[in-house]
Amino acid sequence: MGTGQRFVCWNKQTSSKCASKEETRPAERKDGMGSGRATGLDREALQQKIEALGPWFHNMVLEGVSSAPEHFLGDYPSVKFASFRDAIPDNLTGKTVLDIGCNAGFYSFEMKRRGAARVLGIDADEHYLRQARFAAEVKGVDVEFEHMPVWDIAALQEKFDLVIFMGVFYHLRHPLLALDLIHEHVAKDLLLFQSMQRGSMEITAVDEDYDFNAPAPFDEPGFPRMHFIEQRYSHDETNWWVPNRACVEALLRSAGFAILSQPEPEVYVCRSVPMAVPPDGPHAVYPAGRPGR
Ligand SMILES: C[S@@+](CC[C@H](N)C(=O)[O-])C[C@H]1O[C@@H](n2cnc3c(N)ncnc32)[C@H](O)[C@@H]1O
Repeated sequence: MGTGQRFVCWNKQTSSKCASKEETRPAERKDGMGSGRATGLDREALQQKIEALGPWFHNMVLEGVSSAPEHFLGDYPSVKFASFRDAIPDNLTGKTVLDIGCNAGFYSFEMKRRGAARVLGIDADEHYLRQARFAAEVKGVDVEFEHMPVWDIAALQEKFDLVIFMGVFYHLRHPLLALDLIHEHVAKDLLLFQSMQRGSMEITAVDEDYDFNAPAPFDEPGFPRMHFIEQRYSHDETNWWVPNRACVEALLRSAGFAILSQPEPEVYVCRSVPMAVPPDGPHAVYPAGRPGR
């Protein structure tokens, strides 16, 4: 995904799975995340401001007003989060969190609600960061949002207890580089990872080596495989690579992330583990932020 491009497929499909969330969900201020009303806007002005900041990919409920009530995936990402919310620590008191590709900040706010001392959300798209900053203002919570593509995370010069990398991997032209950079520069302990997956859900055990002249395992359904999207997938030109399940797991392991759990088919909770530095130097390249370069 080019950094100026926006994930656009949701507003090209207008299924109305959640026509109005206002009657079914409590106002955000009831969740203990600050008192709300920090903007001083009345409901009509709030609604207008939310519309002006649109289109939204995250359905945020701000003072009872839904930002994306007709999202093609339903009440997103709440519905997604429901399937893995218990897989990450409920108490994050004192922890630091980096949310890469934070969008309007749904996961950032949730981690703050769990007590994280510091939450930083970064995204390559200012459109979404404006939404995230406004949501933080309405909620009255201290979450930082910064414009930064994943390629520049070395510049943060900080490691975080929890790194969230949800829904970004397949939007990248160079996705393995992003995983390498995350491991090298920002992951101290846990990684919450999600990628779209397509193809076989089977896993073929990977051998340590393969003979050049022996029948290759590449066509087995469970062999790690990334599907390259030259044009578009789901009407979205920012979808570049779609791995199968075996590939996601192999890539995570290869980048230094031990898989702790897979609470739903696309979501992994991982632990960053040390990797031996090969004789020719670290795997990741350093496009930004290395002092003295
Ligand atoms: C599908 S949305 C996922 C949002 C959120 N993480 C979630 O799981 O709901 C992809 C997000 O990644 C951001 N993004 C795309 N390429 C990026 C990059 N190179 N660096 C940082 N963020 C990027 C987009 O702007 C968008 O907000």
